[in-house]
Amino acid sequence: MVMDNMKTGSADITAVVQEKGGVGKTTTVINLGAWYARLGHRTLLIDLDPQGNLGKGLGLAPGGSRASGARREGGGAMYRVFRDPDYGLERAVVQTDVPGLDVAPADNGLEAAEVELILALSRESVLRRKIEAAGLRERYDRILLDCRPSLGVLTVNAMVAADQLLIPVETQYFALEALETLMDVLKGVRETLHPGLRVAGIVPTKHEARVRVCQVTLDLLRQRYPQLLTQTVIRKFVAFPEAQLRGLPIYTVAPGSEAAEAYRALALELDGASGDVPGNGRALTAPVAVG
Ligand SMILES: Nc1ncnc2c1ncn2[C@@H]1O[C@H](COP(=O)(O)OP(=O)(O)OP(=O)(O)O)[C@@H](O)[C@H]1O
Ligand SMILES: [Mg+2]
Repeated sequence: MVMDNMKTGSADITAVVQEKGGVGKTTTVINLGAWYARLGHRTLLIDLDPQGNLGKGLGLAPGGSRASGARREGGGAMYRVFRDPDYGLERAVVQTDVPGLDVAPADNGLEAAEVELILALSRESVLRRKIEAAGLRERYDRILLDCRPSLGVLTVNAMVAADQLLIPVETQYFALEALETLMDVLKGVRETLHPGLRVAGIVPTKHEARVRVCQVTLDLLRQRYPQLLTQTVIRKFVAFPEAQLRGLPIYTVAPGSEAAEAYRALALELDGASGDVPGNGRALTAPVAVG
C-alpha cells in the first residue's frame, strides 16, 4: 500500500539509518536532538534498536527509568507499541533532563517485535500509524528515529514513518558498500511503500582529517553523492564516548568545543538556517578534486 497521500502535521520525521554498526547513529540522534531542543524545537527521539543505547545515552536506565531515581510510567514500552494495537506510542514517551527533549526508549524486549512483526498485517507501517494515532506530529516540531544496524522490519518501519533519512557514514573502508546497500533498500521502499521518502543528508562521522583512508573516503563520498553529502563533517573526538557514558549531550560535557559545535552546525544545516546555505543546504556542497 502506498501511503503518501496520508495527512501530515507539523513535525518533520527523520530516520537515522545505516546498516553498518557503530557509525554514530545513536550519537547523532542524541546530539542533533539535543541541539534541536536547545534551538527551541519541541523534539522527540524514538528508539527502534533493542540495544537501547538511546535512552542510556540520555541518562535513563534500561526500560526508561531515570538512572538516578524514580521510574517513569511507560518507559521501555516500545515492544508493546508494536505488538498491542491499543497501546499508544505516547505511553512510551518519557522526559529527559534536557528541556524540550523527550524520548521513547527501547530495551532488548523489542527484539521479539522484529520476529513477530514478520507475520503481522501491514507490518511495515505499524510505527507510522502509531505516530499518527498518538498525534505526535502535532505535539512536536522534530521527531528523530534511531535505527538498529540492520535493514530488517523495524528499520523499514522507520523508513515508512519518516519524511526523510539522515545517513551517518564513518569515513572508513567499506563505507561506500554499506551506503550502496542502503540506497538499494531506499529504492525498494520508494517503489513499494513510500515514494516521497527523501534523503536529508549523508553525514560523514568519526572523521580523522589526518588519516589518509579517511581523506580518500571523504573525497569519494563527495564525488559520488555531491548533492547529498552534508557540509558538516563530524570529526572523531573522545568527548563523544565520554558524553554517552555520562548520559549527557555533548554540549553539556564539552560546552563550546569543536565536538559540540559540529552537531549545532549539522542542526542548522539541516534546517537550512545557517545564513549562507540555501534550501536544505545540499546545493552548496563543494565539488572536491580527487587526485
Ligand atoms: N564523532 C565521534 N567521535 C568519536 N567517537 C564517536 C563519535 N561518534 C560516535 N562515537 C562513538 O562510537 C561508538 C558507536 O557510536 P554510536 O553508538 O553512536 O553508533 P551507532 O551507529 O548508533 O551504533 P549501532 O549500530 O551499534 O547502533 C560509541 O562509543 C560512540 O560514543
Ligand atoms: Mg545505535
